[in-house]
Amino acid sequence: MTATPTARGTRLRLGRDTRRMVLLVHLAASLGWFGADVVLGVLAVTGFVSDDPARVAACYTALHVFAVPVLLTLGLVSLASGLTLGLASRWGVVRTRWVLVKLVINLVLVALVPVLLQPRLAEVARQVRQVDAGLAERLGRIPQDLLFPAFVSGTALLVAAVLAVWKPWGPTRRR
Ligand code: HEM
Repeated sequence: MTATPTARGTRLRLGRDTRRMVLLVHLAASLGWFGADVVLGVLAVTGFVSDDPARVAACYTALHVFAVPVLLTLGLVSLASGLTLGLASRWGVVRTRWVLVKLVINLVLVALVPVLLQPRLAEVARQVRQVDAGLAERLGRIPQDLLFPAFVSGTALLVAAVLAVWKPWGPTRRR
C-alpha cells in the first residue's frame, strides 16, 4: 500500500488483491452490521410483546451481551475499511455524495451505540438480575451443539462472500 499525490489530493494505492481484501472486509462488516440489527430487532420485539417473564428476561440479557460489542465492532470495521476504499479510489471520502452520506450514517450510528444504547441496555440488564438472581445457575450452560450453527453458517457465508469478490474458476461447461 502506497500513497500517491494527485491533482485531487493524495490517493492510496492498493494492489488488486489488497483492494479485494479490503472490499471483502467492508462488505462483511457493513452487511453483517445490518444482520446484527435484524437480530437486535427480533430480540427487542420478542421482549416487548412476550407475556412469558423468563423469555423477556432472556431477550434483555441477550441484548445486553451481544448488541454493544457486535454493533460497535462491525460499525468501526465498516468505517475503517470504507475510508480505505474511499481514499484508494476515484470515489474519495468527501468527493462523492453517496460516500459522504454513508460516512455520516456510519458515524451517527456508531456514536449512538455508546451514547444511547449501552447505558439503556446496562440498566435493563441490571433490572433482570435483580428480578431473578438465581436464574443463570438454574439454567446452567447452553448445550454444546448450539455452539456450532453460528460457526458453520458464518464460515459458509464468508466463503460465499470471498467467491463474490474474487469470482474464481471461470464458466461451467453448460454455457
Ligand atoms: C454505513 C454503512 C455502510 C454500508 C452498509 C456500506 C455498504 C457498501 C457496499 C454494499 C458496497 C459495495 C458496492 C459495490 O461494490 O457495488 C460498498 C462500497 C464502498 N463503500 Fe461502503 N458501506 C458503508 C459505509 C461506508 C463508509 C463509512 C465509507 C467511507 C467513508 C464507505 C465507502 C465505500 C466505497 C468507497 C465503496 C466502493 C468500493 C469500490 O468499489 O471501489 N462505505 N459499501
